[in-house]
Amino acid sequence: MDNKKTDLLIIGAGPGGYVSAIYAAKKGLNVTLVDAKWVGGTCLNVGCIPTKALVKSAELYQEILHSEHNGIFLENPSINLGIIIDKKDEVKEKLVTGVAFLLEKYGVTVIHGFAKFLNDKEVSVNDDIYTAKNIIIATGSKTKHLNFPGNDLAIDSEVLLNNKELPKTLAIIGGGVIGMEFAFIYASFGVAVTVIEFLPRVLPGVDKEFSSRLMRFAKQLNITILNNAGVTEIKEENGLKTVMFTQKDKEKVVQADMVLEAVGRVPMIDNLGLENTKILHDFRSGVSVDSHMLTNVANIYAIGDVTNIIQLAHVASHQGLVAVDNILGKDREMNYDAIPAVIFTTPTIATVGKTEAMCKEEEIDYEVVKVPYTANGKALIMEAEAGYMKLLRDTSSKKLIGAMIFGKDADNLIATVTLAITKGLSAEDLQETVFAHPTVQELVHEAAMGLDQFGIHFLN
Ligand code: FAD
Ligand code: NAI
Repeated sequence: MDNKKTDLLIIGAGPGGYVSAIYAAKKGLNVTLVDAKWVGGTCLNVGCIPTKALVKSAELYQEILHSEHNGIFLENPSINLGIIIDKKDEVKEKLVTGVAFLLEKYGVTVIHGFAKFLNDKEVSVNDDIYTAKNIIIATGSKTKHLNFPGNDLAIDSEVLLNNKELPKTLAIIGGGVIGMEFAFIYASFGVAVTVIEFLPRVLPGVDKEFSSRLMRFAKQLNITILNNAGVTEIKEENGLKTVMFTQKDKEKVVQADMVLEAVGRVPMIDNLGLENTKILHDFRSGVSVDSHMLTNVANIYAIGDVTNIIQLAHVASHQGLVAVDNILGKDREMNYDAIPAVIFTTPTIATVGKTEAMCKEEEIDYEVVKVPYTANGKALIMEAEAGYMKLLRDTSSKKLIGAMIFGKDADNLIATVTLAITKGLSAEDLQETVFAHPTVQELVHEAAMGLDQFGIHFLN
């Protein structure tokens, strides 16, 4: 065993770890980045990027199927899932290679190996023992599995992302973000999808108004949603999986060619040796940190999914920047007031800041405006009439505090409002900003105008 020393040891090369590594190296630190599996973590290899590559193919196929009133006629369009998966892998490889190139370019030492804490100061990797002035834990999360008979007949999102044969039917246990994104992907490819959700509605993390509206689109795509349903067993019969569940005290079944289990993700701290340290942690809530991303042990930070604060790639990366700045002697805290979240169903759902429900709960006096996509030329051209956006401001400070967007390009639109909320801008600041025409971004301007009754299309 060799003893190795570094300024900063980062465990985990996902969007938390690799972004921190490059940033710290650019700031002059000697950085060692360790990953047991791959550069890019869950997000690049089996998460954000691969799923969105499939979303692109799914939406394109639906556009092709409905292209006739654009004057485009195609005979017998069909799907080759194998080619779609290969294309997804190409995108993933390009990104992973790009990140590996940057790590090398900025002098980060990348070690392939499993890291384990021996105590608060030492970490073993392969045959070496590392000591570092600072350590960042960025080990991410892993799929949560339910405990019922036949659970091994279900697959997780990582396996489904590599599936090259379209099933006729797909059952999805869990109507959260992963479940609903896959439901829309597979249903868009023509698969009959059934979602079995334990709670009274799918996407429990977003406003009811949005999940209810999404149901209309789910139905059009032949997605069946079963709420208040708890799975009790899965059996294999004649090549089909039979999923047994209870709903309102009744025993029911759904049969499908494939079953996806997507009931959440838990912090990845398996065999990390945290029990050999004083770092506060538990298997459900992960590693505890303060607003500086510092654990209770000096010089040991944690970021990303392993902290289980918000399981999103951009949050992991941002927490990483905060941790590195603190390591460099700044006093920087993580602020969660303007974190955008996007669900890539069709239509897309994007949110940032406070919702109306949050304002009511926190007794914040707020004003809200709702702007329909029908008010926007570009949205009509894109056939996205069903969309709308809501913009909220604090009545007393006049600052913008939240937005929810349901519709095409919501993922891009939300960035403008995120910037406005982060920088404490008011509706008036957006009114004074010129937005290009014709773009869906004009909806943001329209909503800001609407908050002062100047808009021409708002509904409030
Ligand atoms: P990870 O990306 O999980 O990386 C952790 C790394 O640590 C892994 O590479 C792992 O091998 C390594 N590791 C673990 N333990 C050790 C150890 N002891 N020693 C060495 N290495 C170790 N988020 C979004 O923002 N947008 C999306 O569209 C989105 N889509 C998703 C789709 C799916 C199907 C899934 C599963 C997730 C999605 N996410 C999305 C969530 C996103 O992937 C995570 O929030 C993000 O990857 C967390 O980054 P991280 O750096 O904390 O951890
Ligand atoms: P999730 O927490 O979003 O959803 C899990 C769902 O499973 C919930 O609706 C829950 O009620 C349901 N559930 C739990 N136990 C169940 C049971 N026994 N039977 C039936 N349903 C049950 O978790 P998910 O979808 O696994 O995703 C994990 C995380 O990954 C997300 O919370 C999100 O942070 C991240 N992610 C982000 C994406 C994005 O930003 N677009 C895309 C995909 C994942």
